Amino acid sequence: MNKELVLTIAAFQLAIMTNIGLAQLDNPHNDPSKVLGAESCAKCHDAEIAVWKKTPHYDTFKKLHRKPEAKQIAERMGLRSIKRGETCLKCHYTEQDHGGATKAISGISCESCHGASQDWIKIHNDYGGPNISKLQETPEHKTLRREKSIANGMRNPSNLYLVARSCLNCHTTPDENLVNVGQHPTGSLDFELVAWSQGMVHHNFVASDGKHNSPSTTERLRVMYIAGTLADLEFSLRATAQATTKAKFATTSALRANTMRKKLAWIQSHLNHPTLQQAVDAANEVELKLDNKDQLIAAADKIADCGFEFAKTASGTELGAIDALLPDKSKYK
Ligand code: HEC
Ligand code: HEC
Ligand code: HEC
Ligand code: HEC
Repeated sequence: MNKELVLTIAAFQLAIMTNIGLAQLDNPHNDPSKVLGAESCAKCHDAEIAVWKKTPHYDTFKKLHRKPEAKQIAERMGLRSIKRGETCLKCHYTEQDHGGATKAISGISCESCHGASQDWIKIHNDYGGPNISKLQETPEHKTLRREKSIANGMRNPSNLYLVARSCLNCHTTPDENLVNVGQHPTGSLDFELVAWSQGMVHHNFVASDGKHNSPSTTERLRVMYIAGTLADLEFSLRATAQATTKAKFATTSALRANTMRKKLAWIQSHLNHPTLQQAVDAANEVELKLDNKDQLIAAADKIADCGFEFAKTASGTELGAIDALLPDKSKYK
């Protein structure tokens, strides 16, 4: 095939995949029938597994149902079991399909953040055939491989917005009954993606030699900080949209959305970035009130698109003006 034709086909495939990738922005919850479980990653990612095993994400599987506070929340909600039934499974466990019924197979694991892997596991590490090594892979193939993994449901950290959405979908605790009736904590109000991901959660082995957990670059942390702010805004808007009564859940969610849109406006005033301006406009146009579901969701959808686009295109070198916001290493969880 001549070179031009190959390039045209590649560009065409990329365009299709990018569109499919955006469909992923609907809902970061995993389809339990496509979850393979952390053991299926262990063969190639044992270093990441070892890090994960020291986090509360892992521990919650063994510990949550024994905690008195957890039992009280379940009791107030009239639940007979914490490990069975949808309510707690969604955020504290990894759900897998077992003959039509959903079962908790572990705490919050690899796929909770990176997406159910059945459709992407064989794609994400394929450098271009069995005889091509990491070093031999062309940059074009690497880009295509990542796009393809995203199109197949991977929340690939090469686009930080996809992973940021995983975190905030749980850490804003978007469940009205859980908060108002169960008196569950109202999300993690001090969540901030850099501080919360660069400490105990951090597991960057493949970026280095596979053996060292290398720190993320400042450029990457800038993109991450903004992606985290956008995702927090997106999911606080979604939570506000869900609220039906003027009680704790509604007020905390709306307040959080308001804090995030102010933070984003501050960031944008220092960067003057076209994609971020679209997100600021979408957030400012919507009223944070009850009975405003459609508009709140439309704003959240718009912000999701901006977040994906921003994380895809920003290199970080152009974002130095926000460095004062980046948390000090001593703040890493
Ligand atoms: C057969 C080996 C193998 C298995 C099994 C495997 N991976 Fe990977 N994974 C790799 C390799 C190799 C890379 C590095 C790709 C590269 O060089 O960009 C990688 C990269 C990744 C990345 C970074 C992607 C990127 O483009 O930067 C993530 C996230 C990831 N794997 C998650 C998982 C998860 C989650 C599982 C289990 C559901 C899993 N992997 C199973 C081999 C594997
Ligand atoms: C929508 C997501 C979500 C759901 C659903 C959810 N939780 Fe949580 N839960 C969280 C998050 C996020 C935290 C961490 C909050 C923090 O400390 O920042 C948490 C923390 C907790 C804590 C305090 C931390 C600890 O382990 O001591 C308890 C107890 C708890 N959850 C119990 C429950 C119970 C019981 C259910 C089911 C009735 C449930 N949760 C359902 C997201 C959720
Ligand atoms: C499937 C839901 C879910 C996802 C996805 C998730 N978390 Fe969590 N996270 C939790 C829950 C629940 C807890 C509390 C567990 C417990 O204590 O029982 C928690 C706890 C934590 C803690 C410990 C907090 C503390 O004060 O000890 C950190 C740090 C954290 N999460 C960071 C992150 C980051 C960063 C991401 C995304 C990259 C993320 N989480 C994605 C549900 C989730
Ligand atoms: C709490 C959410 C969360 C969980 C759980 C999680 N990851 Fe990640 N993962 C992330 C985030 C966020 C990044 C990007 C971090 C950064 O660049 O600093 C990442 C990055 C990666 C990378 C790329 C690292 C690099 O050097 O570029 C790989 C590979 C990976 N994860 C594999 C795994 C595997 C395997 C597991 C299960 C053992 C796992 N992850 C569990 C959130 C998570």
